[in-house]
Amino acid sequence: MTKKVLIRNASQIVTPQGHSACFGKAMGDVKVYENTSIFIEDGIIKGIGDPAQWEKEVPRENQIDAAHKAVLPGFVDSHTHLVFGGYRPDEFLWRMGGMSYMDIMNRGGGIINTMKATREASEAELADHAMDHLKKMLAMGVTTVEAKSGYGQDYDTEIKQLHVTRKLNASQPIELVSTFLGAHAVPPEYKGRSKAFLDFLLKEVMPVVKKENLAEFCDIFCEEGVFSVDESRQYLKKAREMGFKLKIHADEIVSLGGSELAGELKATSADHLLHASDAGIKAMAENGVVSTLLPTTAFCLREPFARAREMIDAGCAVALATDFNPGSGFTFSVPLMLGLAVIYMHMTAEEAITALTLNGAAAVGRADRIGSIEVGKQADLTILQYPSYKFLPYHTGVNIVEKVIKKGELVHTASV
Ligand code: NIG
Ligand code: FE
Repeated sequence: MTKKVLIRNASQIVTPQGHSACFGKAMGDVKVYENTSIFIEDGIIKGIGDPAQWEKEVPRENQIDAAHKAVLPGFVDSHTHLVFGGYRPDEFLWRMGGMSYMDIMNRGGGIINTMKATREASEAELADHAMDHLKKMLAMGVTTVEAKSGYGQDYDTEIKQLHVTRKLNASQPIELVSTFLGAHAVPPEYKGRSKAFLDFLLKEVMPVVKKENLAEFCDIFCEEGVFSVDESRQYLKKAREMGFKLKIHADEIVSLGGSELAGELKATSADHLLHASDAGIKAMAENGVVSTLLPTTAFCLREPFARAREMIDAGCAVALATDFNPGSGFTFSVPLMLGLAVIYMHMTAEEAITALTLNGAAAVGRADRIGSIEVGKQADLTILQYPSYKFLPYHTGVNIVEKVIKKGELVHTASV
């Protein structure tokens, strides 16, 4: 039987529009409906308008009152390292004491530290920890999460991480989009032999990932002292030939040219971009690459923020994501991220919403299905405790999400 749901009389329905990323100035053009309702059938939005036309056909228990509340598309966290073993609180404090992220990595800490803990952890342990995090992400209005592997750097552990992601995708409400990030760091077994390591991933691991359909995207940490632009180019080209869509950790620590490479390869997204050059910004804008910015990572690394304002003014499609991981930024706080984006990165509230919804959806290749509130799209919705979207940056750092709807089902209600 068809399941019908009605979100009644929302004080505001706030949404970008379209089935692909919004570039440049268009990011600010969010549509705001006032005192309007959303009619949902079998998880799909079928109408936006006056509730009277649907209220007789929707059972009382399926009508959700949204008076005095703003309704937005479910948030898309399009860059996370969700599945990992262990934690690194000491490294965070060493950084606060002045040590750099790369110094810690070069001394065997950083990604290699988490790699060791992830290799040792069982699938059940990894899944339990990630599940705890997912529950909290859902409570912040997040309905889709991209999850990267990359803390194994060997066959067994990379596949283990991807299996955990697959199981979690089937066992809780948030949709997970899987990315293979085997090329996250050169493991000790391949020290000084990065090319041989990339060949190993291409020949031994990725064919299995592809065959078992364990990841849609392939990503690489293109960074000084990790993988060079040339290595990244060759690796990503081969990954594309194997059928993976492309992402790049680009220009995070130094301005190496990762954003230019993303433009050259027409990658789906380039991420971080703290040190993206003017040429890199132009290359992303001209080649339809989503520029994914991760303000909480810059904040936790005590680095300057990415140049969001200049990127949008230059015509880029900016997405905002948390980069949740145990090292460079152990946070998935959407409220903190939005606050930083608006206060320090000079994005408007409307641009920030587009960045977290439709452009995030585009960054995970799903803008045709999610990321906006439009007839025909999946009913993934975030209902706020306040009547206007303006409370998102204004009630700074506070989670104001009251209800979360995934595919038309109420999957979270705040307890306070
Ligand atoms: O996106 N930069 C590379 N990878 C992660 C950090 C991973 C870690 O420190 O464990 C990032 O910042
Ligand atoms: Fe990352």
